[in-house]
Amino acid sequence: MILHHPNTTSTLAEQVEIKEDLFMPTMAQITSIKKMTELEKVFTLQLPEGVSLGNRPGQFVEVSVLGVGEAPISISSSPSRSNGTFELCVRRVGDVTNALHNLQPGAMLGLRGPFGRGFPYEKFRGKEVLFAAGGLGLAPLRSLINQVIDERATFGRVIILYGARSPEELLFTDELKEWADRDDLEFHVTVDRGNDDWQGNVGVITTLFKKISIYPRNTVAATCGPPVMYRFVLMELLAKGISEGNTYLSLERHMKCGVGKCGHCQINDVYACQSGPVFPYSEIKGMEEAL
Ligand SMILES: Cc1cc2nc3c(=O)[nH]c(=O)nc-3n(C[C@H](O)[C@H](O)[C@H](O)COP(=O)(O)OP(=O)(O)OC[C@H]3O[C@@H](n4cnc5c(N)ncnc54)[C@H](O)[C@@H]3O)c2cc1C
Ligand code: FES
Repeated sequence: MILHHPNTTSTLAEQVEIKEDLFMPTMAQITSIKKMTELEKVFTLQLPEGVSLGNRPGQFVEVSVLGVGEAPISISSSPSRSNGTFELCVRRVGDVTNALHNLQPGAMLGLRGPFGRGFPYEKFRGKEVLFAAGGLGLAPLRSLINQVIDERATFGRVIILYGARSPEELLFTDELKEWADRDDLEFHVTVDRGNDDWQGNVGVITTLFKKISIYPRNTVAATCGPPVMYRFVLMELLAKGISEGNTYLSLERHMKCGVGKCGHCQINDVYACQSGPVFPYSEIKGMEEAL
């Protein structure tokens, strides 16, 4: 366990070490649940008093629903807004996530983590930051986006590109509106298929790249989305001249233990749960199975 105690400076991770059991979850309470779309809900979780998550943007937790199982879920809220609680955006796809969707506020969940290597956002300071999120990929990127917004003065221009399949599938719509209204952010959104009310861009996320101009030598990019998106987004980012070392992507792999023990997430000789899920493209471009 790796969570953090504000008074004694112990993290959830340190608690794991205290328990000497990497597989022993700490219990957290669901304080609110917000339905985002037909498939996604956002859960706000409260850790036991005095324990904080101690996460960085891009990390994930292993969430267990008692009697059902465990699944890796990205931390969607930013550390800068933690306040003893944090958020997970969960799409219902199988046993654990459906069970989660059936819970009510007040229910308890098991948590292990935070795990993995997040975005090295300290390295982003002073640079222009380009975000490209596809679908549920906004969930982990939102953690970094809001961290950057909360420290806005320490970054150069900030550009956010977001694509969803349809207007009904857009996530965090209140926040998207706030981002669009800010004059210190450039925000572009697109959907693959519009509806009668949609007046914005229609087309896949790569259609947004022609709307932006960047200074590649001073730009870092962070992208997350479905596997099919990466190849095309990477082509656009590299065509814009952003270096492979400054292009970060978050890879989703089937994970079980989250701590480098089970091998489920292995890509060549790398365990994505520990070396990732965030990688600079320069590190994985030679790995056939990575993308
Ligand atoms: C680092 C990381 C971060 C993630 N963040 C989020 C997030 O923020 N929000 C979110 O909703 N999801 C997230 N996921 C995905 C989530 O962990 C999976 O969808 C998880 O499998 C859901 O568990 P489940 O029991 O509900 O579904 P499962 O029963 O695991 O089934 C989910 C789907 O995956 C298939 N599947 C499961 N295991 C395997 C396997 N070993 N091989 C092939 N196919 C398999 C199933 O057939 C099914 O279609 C993340 C995954 C990772 C690795
Ligand atoms: S999830 Fe078990 S080794 Fe990575």
